[in-house]
Amino acid sequence: MQTSLAVRLGKLELKNPILTASGTFGYGQEFDEFVDLNRLGGIITKSVTRNARIGNPPHRIVEVPGGLLNSIGLANVGVESFISDKMPFLRTLQCRKIVNIAGESLEEFAEVLTKLEESPEGIDGYEVNLSCPNVEEGGRTFGKDPKQVFLITQALRKITDRPLIVKLTPDCSDIGQLGLAAQEGGADILSAINTFVGMAIDSRKRKPVLGTVTGGFSGPALKSLALAKVYELGQTVSLPIIGIGGIFTLTDVIEFLLAGASAVQIGTANYIEPRISERLVDQLEGYCQENSIASVSELVGALE
Ligand SMILES: Cc1cc2nc3c(=O)[nH]c(=O)nc-3n(C[C@H](O)[C@H](O)[C@H](O)COP(=O)(O)O)c2cc1C
Repeated sequence: MQTSLAVRLGKLELKNPILTASGTFGYGQEFDEFVDLNRLGGIITKSVTRNARIGNPPHRIVEVPGGLLNSIGLANVGVESFISDKMPFLRTLQCRKIVNIAGESLEEFAEVLTKLEESPEGIDGYEVNLSCPNVEEGGRTFGKDPKQVFLITQALRKITDRPLIVKLTPDCSDIGQLGLAAQEGGADILSAINTFVGMAIDSRKRKPVLGTVTGGFSGPALKSLALAKVYELGQTVSLPIIGIGGIFTLTDVIEFLLAGASAVQIGTANYIEPRISERLVDQLEGYCQENSIASVSELVGALE
């Protein structure tokens, strides 16, 4: 039977609900030899900041039970190089291209977005990474504070009419409040979740493994935690949600859709199987056909 994998998240239409997660898929081109990028619903780029960043001192990645800890520290080429060196390739693709932006102050977020809006050809939307330290607030993560979430979203909303996705941190007491703050600020879509704060210790050396002591925890152990956050958001906000966290299998994808996500992002799994995002598109199509599901959107929030 004919089945449609297309999903609509407000003003963002995707040909299928499989996206790749920021920071785990480079700027897309790095995966071009493994994945038919045009088969994906979309690519979310690495976080882009005002200036190029070399990132944190090593070690920056360590495997731990159930996942990965990273302290990459937003290493990226900076917005100007992104536009001149990375966008030309992205523009050749048929999938959606979402640029993830980050900053250490409200002004930096606004400046990065303004620069991108000056040459927007090929950009289908933005994802705002709020899991960054706010230098004006003593390094406290923006995304933990509903007031900051509201203020940043409101400021960025004034700069662009393109779909604005606000990416929420799970390191908070009430993700629903963060979601409501983004919704009030004018976000079109929420994505959840970013990494949890985690730590690894080398007991022989009696030292932390990561150069920054703590880092972001991602991977399979996140799945149940992320599902609960997506479900909670779905009960609280009226915006469409993109689910992220420990998604490795077709079953994981379906569970996130049932919990209320309209699309999903594949993160750490790309490191284990670079072609996984494309495989999940194939598998989702097969699943819908076998189960006589005319449109994958029927699954969204269909938890009984
Ligand atoms: C090595 C690494 C780098 C990441 N870099 C970014 C980033 O630059 N911006 C961002 O918003 N999220 C970043 N993330 C978070 C992922 O996009 C995703 O939210 C998180 O890893 C949870 O999904 P997963 O369990 O499928 O990996 C990064 C994750 C990893 C593992």
